[in-house]
Amino acid sequence: MKRTNEASSRDTAHKLPKIVTTLPGPKAKEVLDMDTKYVSPSYTRSYPLVAESAAGSIVTDPDGNRFLDFNAGIAVCSTGHCHPEIVKTIQDQAAKLIHMSGTDFYYSAQTRLARKLAQLAPGESPKKVFFSNSGAEAVECAMKLARYKTGRTVMIAFIGAFHGRTMGALSLTASKALQRKGFAPLVPQVVHIPYAYCYRCEFGKDPKTCGTDCLRYLTETVFKKVVDPSDVAGIIMEPIQGEGGYVVPPRDFVQKLRAITREHGIMLIADEVQSGIGRTGKMFAIEHFDVQPDILCIAKGIASGMPLGCTVADASVMDWKPGMHASTFGGNPISCEAALKTLELLEAGVMENCRQMGARLKERLAGLVESSPHVGDVRGEGLMVGIEMVTDKQTRAPAPALRDRVVNRCFEKGVLILGCGPNTVRLSPPLIIERAQVDFAADVLEAAIRELN
Ligand SMILES: Cc1ncc(COP(=O)(O)O)c(C=O)c1O
Repeated sequence: MKRTNEASSRDTAHKLPKIVTTLPGPKAKEVLDMDTKYVSPSYTRSYPLVAESAAGSIVTDPDGNRFLDFNAGIAVCSTGHCHPEIVKTIQDQAAKLIHMSGTDFYYSAQTRLARKLAQLAPGESPKKVFFSNSGAEAVECAMKLARYKTGRTVMIAFIGAFHGRTMGALSLTASKALQRKGFAPLVPQVVHIPYAYCYRCEFGKDPKTCGTDCLRYLTETVFKKVVDPSDVAGIIMEPIQGEGGYVVPPRDFVQKLRAITREHGIMLIADEVQSGIGRTGKMFAIEHFDVQPDILCIAKGIASGMPLGCTVADASVMDWKPGMHASTFGGNPISCEAALKTLELLEAGVMENCRQMGARLKERLAGLVESSPHVGDVRGEGLMVGIEMVTDKQTRAPAPALRDRVVNRCFEKGVLILGCGPNTVRLSPPLIIERAQVDFAADVLEAAIRELN
């Protein structure tokens, strides 16, 4: 019995963090120094993690420090780092065909992935897929398609939304003013309205009784005083807001939004770049709300780390003409094969693991709202979980500095997490995370939050 216990703790030991130097260690420091000299300072590194190699949910730095990854390269490494089947798929495809340009030629990986995504996208109607390389490009495509299809110009997006950094996507983004500062003029004809961020309702209402006043603002104020709905091409929403703070809206908010868009012939665009591909325990987060969008944007987790953006729309919507939209690299054969393998793994058990581990994580963290004076809210679906930090529970005053302390403390203890929104801790581990790893991260988080008292 003793031998079995020893063996099993040896088994899990390499799946947990181990910090062997001060952070950053000497080799990591060399990378950091060079980075400071040569790399754009616009990146937002929260702490000095230098990744050298990674497997599953463990990242190792050049000094041999081992970290537990509760961020997955910003919700990208859905099947974990370097999943052996993903690595083999990439290697096999690289030896066969790396690039051909789906813009001008055909190859079966792209076609098969389009068929798979068309089958997976919510709704019975036939679908078509456009391939690009990133989330921002998936959104650009959606924006152009909505304008083309409706012949209208105005786009409506939400306060707190993050849709990317290219000019079109940035025009829709309203997550942090700094992201837009200095880049005007952005694409015109974008109107931002409040999201159903019920913990911080713009209208000071209680979600139990408000009747989604935030949508009344759209129909009674925006549609009557700012823009006629017949000028609106599309409304883009994250079914669960990501960069804005892992905000989960009420079900009737999403359903009513769908009804409003249908009533006025407006394209409903679901930006599932962060929330999609199994992360919330369903293939797409919008399925939690029983809603079918007209256009669906996918990226991040779809290809387990290979760059890929996909825009899926009803075939009747994606009926533009040859040459109207294209991308040289979009949907390259290696990314498409990695995506097909990722989806196969998700359906074969990874998504089920996500549901179970997500429930475990939420169960472990739920008590924090009671026990800590600084935890205002714990929310999320599956393995997309946020902890909103406040200085005072009564006033709900945001606590960005406390959030940053938690993030940094976790790094020192070997757990990689990031923030989102001004004051929320973001937990988005690989979907293959194991129970012992969830418990370890929850212990570290609890201790870091307790230290704030
Ligand atoms: C919801 C959402 N949309 C779009 C993007 C942009 O994706 P990318 O950075 O791949 O351009 C992001 C990135 O965080 C995102 O979270």
